[in-house]
Amino acid sequence: MNDYQIEINLSSAKKQKPAFDSLEFGKNFTDHMFIMDYTQGRGWHDPRIIPYQPLKLDPSAMVFHYGQSVFEGLKAYLTKDQEVLMFRPYMNMERLNKSNTRLCIPAIDEELAVQALKKLISVDREWVPNVPGTSLYIRPFIISTEPYLGVASSKQFQFIIIMSPVGAYYKEGINPVKIAVQNEYVRAVKGGTGNAKTGGNYASSLKAQEVAEETGYSQVLWLDGKENKYVEEVGSMNIFFKINGEIVTPELNGSILEGVTRNSVIELIKHWNIPLSERRVSIDEIYEAHKRGELEEAFGTGTAAVISPIGEFFWNGEKLCINNGETGQVSKKLYDTLTGIQRGEIDDHF
Ligand code: COI
Repeated sequence: MNDYQIEINLSSAKKQKPAFDSLEFGKNFTDHMFIMDYTQGRGWHDPRIIPYQPLKLDPSAMVFHYGQSVFEGLKAYLTKDQEVLMFRPYMNMERLNKSNTRLCIPAIDEELAVQALKKLISVDREWVPNVPGTSLYIRPFIISTEPYLGVASSKQFQFIIIMSPVGAYYKEGINPVKIAVQNEYVRAVKGGTGNAKTGGNYASSLKAQEVAEETGYSQVLWLDGKENKYVEEVGSMNIFFKINGEIVTPELNGSILEGVTRNSVIELIKHWNIPLSERRVSIDEIYEAHKRGELEEAFGTGTAAVISPIGEFFWNGEKLCINNGETGQVSKKLYDTLTGIQRGEIDDHF
């Protein structure tokens, strides 16, 4: 393995850390950041860790106009033995490169990126929170920086990693959230960018989220963009159902993001010999299963929330209450096992 030369320039002053027992998601940032530049002809160069600071970008930088950018999200945890563990970082860097391909951004060296993560975490180790339910959220991202207003792929980019000590993503934590099924707006279509982690997908989801919140719902259930019939994702997460003993999740179809937590959940479900099927699942099927009393659980999966149980769907004027609005057994077991693996309390042999 190469030992990459990452220059380190330490901050002269340390910031005041927030109280780790009342952390919100994504509001505080550590003392340092990683940055690396791309210039056409030179490739990626000058990987370095520097004090956390604002970026200096030309107002014509392409990212501001055409949104050529990608990002990732992963977490690091402090174990009981005060060791810092990252959860499956290579999977995130592999996915970052898949998103890069879709957005015409030059690939990064995945090994360098993981080494950068490790170095950055070791520099800002004191920022890994030690309170149950907290973690260090890591946000790698790439932006197009060429000053140019033509619609084309940028010839300059920056790859940056910032880190934030976080608490629960949803204020509900592992308690069930209420979800409104979205009939008007769509998140993505086949052939679009739904399976890439790019800011535009999230920008276009905001309107529906706002409407859901106005009516007392935490998030939306996204249906497919063609027939408005098949379930795709929930909020910014993948979705799973338990129907009559079987776990069902929408198959990857080009418009659904391949979640790292989704993959981990699938591995655990298989390991526990619970019947599992990755297939198309329509909202009518969910409705009918609920009417028959067979919709036993529903939950979202994602890095930020890990497992987010769903206690109610609102669809076509009807409220579908799931498991009496309580956290289901499989959701709870998945949450406990995944967070146990992440904290190094359960062996990661899945
Ligand atoms: C996740 O579930 O990790 C997400 O994608 C949400 C993140 C964009 C805050």
